[in-house]
Amino acid sequence: MKEPIIGIDLGTTNSCAAVVEGDGDVKLIPYKGGEYTIPSIFAIDDKGNELIGYEAKRQWQLNPRNTIYGAKRLVGRPFQSDVVQQMRKVAAYSIRPGARNDVVVDAGKREFTLQEFSAKVLGKVRDVASAHLKQPIRRAVVTVPAYFNDRQRQVVKEAGSLIDLEVVRIINEPTAASLAYGVGKGMNKTVVIYDLGGGTFDVSIIEIRDRVFEVKATGGDIFLGGIDFDDVLIHHVLKDFAGKTGIDLAADPVAMQRIKDLAERTKIDLSSREEVAFNIPFITMTAQGQPLNIEMKFTRKLLEQLTSQLVDRSLQIVARVLVDSGLSTKDIDEVLLVGGQTRMPVVQDRLTRFFGKPPSKGVHPDEAVAVGAALYAHSLEDDTNLRVQLLDVIPMAIGLEKAGGAFHSVFSRNAAIPNAKQLLATTSFDHQTELAMRIFQGDHELVANNDMLGEFTFSGIRADRAGAVQVEITFDVNIEGILTMRARDPATGREMTTTVRVTSQN
Ligand SMILES: Nc1ncnc2c1ncn2[C@@H]1O[C@H](COP(=O)(O)OP(=O)(O)OP(=O)(O)O)[C@@H](O)[C@H]1O
Ligand SMILES: [Mg+2]
Repeated sequence: MKEPIIGIDLGTTNSCAAVVEGDGDVKLIPYKGGEYTIPSIFAIDDKGNELIGYEAKRQWQLNPRNTIYGAKRLVGRPFQSDVVQQMRKVAAYSIRPGARNDVVVDAGKREFTLQEFSAKVLGKVRDVASAHLKQPIRRAVVTVPAYFNDRQRQVVKEAGSLIDLEVVRIINEPTAASLAYGVGKGMNKTVVIYDLGGGTFDVSIIEIRDRVFEVKATGGDIFLGGIDFDDVLIHHVLKDFAGKTGIDLAADPVAMQRIKDLAERTKIDLSSREEVAFNIPFITMTAQGQPLNIEMKFTRKLLEQLTSQLVDRSLQIVARVLVDSGLSTKDIDEVLLVGGQTRMPVVQDRLTRFFGKPPSKGVHPDEAVAVGAALYAHSLEDDTNLRVQLLDVIPMAIGLEKAGGAFHSVFSRNAAIPNAKQLLATTSFDHQTELAMRIFQGDHELVANNDMLGEFTFSGIRADRAGAVQVEITFDVNIEGILTMRARDPATGREMTTTVRVTSQN
């Protein structure tokens, strides 16, 4: 049997894979007990064994320092960035500066790059798929948040290459979800995908015209997801406990892990119940050796109050994306919910009020992304009977640094991809043979507030007087939202050598 390309949703909290079978049906890949998702967790136990997925999750309360979870948020982030510093406050594992203006994480006294961490999770998903399909799997379409920048996308590609998994295409999570919704139904609709997962929030407005899926605008926040809802609850518990006992549990990783676990379960239970008890026996001891318990109660109302700014933030982004798309709420035919956190009733209520109609239940919130990735993977096969065309966009402007740290945008936010643009530069001093350029992605006017993608150096420029030589620079953003650059001398047509170096931003 021909080796298929599978679709993988590499999630912050859960990963999921699917494949299109011979008869054209999409099948989710089940894991052992029949679960369709695998926790995106990697750990090393005290004997040095590597554990991935459920095995890692099962032991995380007891081994919090060597259990890496939620790390998708760290992908492609400089150590100094706010998101990394925020994560360091809540994660029990250590997060340290890496060699490429990124971070590394520790488990079992070993250091892992985010490429390596992602490779562990991808590898597990691939192995489960290979075992289930009874054949080796070597190629996959992998999804990323629409709001991932070029650097973050590259990390996922590199992760694949570390485990001999060819990431044939990276596609955006909301775009994948729209495929799960619309492929093969001959539709003509404009849909909003509201994807609130464990770690990231994405929203895309997509026009479906039969087999053409055109993203009109996208937006998001890679630091807004279920984990933040949990953190709000945890913070509330810590404050309550400190108020009652004077003891700060934040410094005790095992206690924190128990609180974290119950906080998430409580949040989930409150999606179907009005009130839930929050009890943890023997969480710590007094100085006199007397055991202390946590005994609290959460109501849905309280959870909604505590997390209302998180929901507000997501709706502000929805509003902006709607403006960017040039559409209004009445142009939207369906609002589709993706991501586990959208099961929270207040999220659905707020969206109903915003769009003037309830969100549709047209896709499965946990599975749609993997299903869409599998459909797209199938459409890339040579002998496919499924042709789909994705017209996607970049989530943030891409451009270069000008004098004084100003950002000169080359591609604007929501520019269609693939896309290429050219720019002419001239030499600024006599006998200049090299030209360096720092490239950034973001929507701010100053490069310091955007993400640096890299420093490109073009060498082999003809030596001449200042201003006498032109350099034609081509910026190419491929269909995956990944940038490559090249330069040539327009007078001679000669290509110059391009090297990329990621340096620290400051
Ligand atoms: N019934 C529920 N009510 C509220 N939240 C829920 C419910 N079920 C799951 N969640 C939350 O959904 C989140 C996981 O969602 P999901 O599996 O879609 O995320 P992910 O795909 O791993 O992350 P991302 O897409 O952000 O990378 C977790 O924070 C979980 O607590
Ligand atoms: Mg997801």
